[in-house]
Amino acid sequence: MAKPSGGILPGSAAKSVLRKTEVLVLDQIAPAGLKRFSPDRYSLVKEAAAPQIVLVRSQDLHAIDFGGRLLAVGRAGAGTNNIPVPALSSRGLPVFNAPGANANAVKELVVAGLLLGARNLAGALEFVRGLEPGVADLDKRIEEGKKAFAGMELPGHTLGVIGLGRVGSLVADAAIRLGMHVLGFDPDITVDAAWSLPSQVRRANSIEEVQKASHFLTLHVPLVDRTRNLVNARNIELMKPGSILLNFSREGIVEEEAVLRGLRTHRLKAYVTDFPSAALIRVPGVIALPHLGASTREAEENCAVMLADQIRDYIEHGNVKNAVNFPDVAMPRESPYRVAIANANVPNMLARISNAMGAAGLNIHTMLNKSRNEMAYTLVDVDSQVPASVIEELRSIDGVLAVRYLPADHE
Ligand code: MLT
Repeated sequence: MAKPSGGILPGSAAKSVLRKTEVLVLDQIAPAGLKRFSPDRYSLVKEAAAPQIVLVRSQDLHAIDFGGRLLAVGRAGAGTNNIPVPALSSRGLPVFNAPGANANAVKELVVAGLLLGARNLAGALEFVRGLEPGVADLDKRIEEGKKAFAGMELPGHTLGVIGLGRVGSLVADAAIRLGMHVLGFDPDITVDAAWSLPSQVRRANSIEEVQKASHFLTLHVPLVDRTRNLVNARNIELMKPGSILLNFSREGIVEEEAVLRGLRTHRLKAYVTDFPSAALIRVPGVIALPHLGASTREAEENCAVMLADQIRDYIEHGNVKNAVNFPDVAMPRESPYRVAIANANVPNMLARISNAMGAAGLNIHTMLNKSRNEMAYTLVDVDSQVPASVIEELRSIDGVLAVRYLPADHE
């Protein structure tokens, strides 16, 4: 449970403070993004019993009850597996993320991972660090020792890329520029992603096809039920002996026990991962980094700014962009009186919403409704003030999950 917020300003200032949208900032979110929340409209806090917005990076939110005032959650990154998305969806609350904002940072670390694995750099660095600086035959020891770390070059080798979204396609492009062959697989590839793929990327029909053909395999899929243990005891055996596996996506995408066995049997030469665990630390062949993929100044700023802009547009105008559980919906304001409604994607909702408004004498100026899976979202601009009783009436419609009244002047 989040802790209660700190003090409230006394006297007349209290009224305006209470009207501000309270944004709970968990983890380090870049100041460049936080600055987008203007202080006369938002209050940024580090602790709150019932925040309206929660901004998070990697903290696990599954066991936290944020109370009844919550309006949205924002993840300053791509993955949302640390957020209870289905529970928030059932309350009609969007979960925003920042797809692509850190993709270049992750790509660069994957390129580093390719080289770490291909050139045995982790072991070589450890070897040098272990040398005694004072010994007389230091040069001889260095020359002798280096034989253990001879590696291979990237050109001509095949990189398998599982997941051809923003990161996967950048990695594919970088690998091609480094002279590698690239074989990709993504059953859910979008039209945009397909267009942005370099033409040299060959497309496979299954992960197994990629595993059999690749010297390096890199994973760029989100962690969802379907991708848990995607690389496992069964299919790791299909990989070429001495392959290098890279995991900069999420720990759960790889069955750890299978990887450890793969390293013992030399099916894998190296496992380069951004997700260390007790079982992996100090295991020969494991090159583990402390979840550094998105940890660059540029990526942190990009994520924070993108997220802040999306959340402000949602809070102030009801528009939705990059929510993992909502459709994208953007409607220019046609009147100062806007109502935003999240509802179950079932028949007759629009009729019931417009009937409730019509019965109260409200004239609908513009209406936009979109759906995504079980969630539908409707923006309605009306010609006059919407009484609180109408908002309550809308809330009481069976299937309506959340209703917000968004007058343009922030009354
Ligand atoms: C992501 O999902 O994009 C990364 O986990 C972001 C991060 O490292 O915070």
